[in-house]
Amino acid sequence: MTAPLRVAVLASGRGSNLAALIDARSRGALPVEFVLVGSDKADAGALRLAEATGIPTLALDPRGYPDRRAFDLDLFARIAASGADLLVLAGFMRILDGEALAPWAGRMINIHPSLLPKYRGLHTHRRALQAGDAEHGASVHYVTAELDGGPVIAQARLAVDPAEDEHLLAQRLLPLEHRLLPAVVGLIADGRLRLEGHGVILDGSRLPAPLLWDEAAGLRRPA
Ligand code: GAR
Repeated sequence: MTAPLRVAVLASGRGSNLAALIDARSRGALPVEFVLVGSDKADAGALRLAEATGIPTLALDPRGYPDRRAFDLDLFARIAASGADLLVLAGFMRILDGEALAPWAGRMINIHPSLLPKYRGLHTHRRALQAGDAEHGASVHYVTAELDGGPVIAQARLAVDPAEDEHLLAQRLLPLEHRLLPAVVGLIADGRLRLEGHGVILDGSRLPAPLLWDEAAGLRRPA
């Protein structure tokens, strides 16, 4: 038996996506070991959750560093010291320094609440509603120096109700995020997914478009 994938998670907030990953592992649906949960916010719910689960935690305050690069270099050095094979950004609300993240190319993924390349950055739900989009969703992508710009691995889509507000839309999307992220981490843990240049390779062949989350079938290739 091979050793389980060692996963570190960074989160700035409540940590519901982290909770979904932990839950998938407890159910035996995700063959990983969580080696570290880190945050830039000492009061992040994600840290409390990790502590309660017995996962080592790290809280680093960016204000203690001269600039972004110094913070990111220290953060990533500590994550590397944890022995992580994969770094998952699950609601980590910071822009990352390109040089600091370079060693993690192909080993760092992020979940973002929009159908990328639409709506990089903040207020994604509001922007989708304002644009009158019929569909909204979430994406999991490999992280590159370009903000929310790395190759997209998989997406979950949902129909927008034009009468709803951004909070309700976010609330309806979140359960889909909670299935999408563990499913993608599962593909990586099973050794089925990798990044090659800007291409996402699944089972040895390049994906022409992101995988789609299907409530009945799980992740599937686009038609
Ligand atoms: C999630 O909706 C995630 O997609 C988003 O933050 C939320 C974190 O929630 N991430 C981003 O906006 C990254 N640009 P959580 O702390 O409950 O997992």
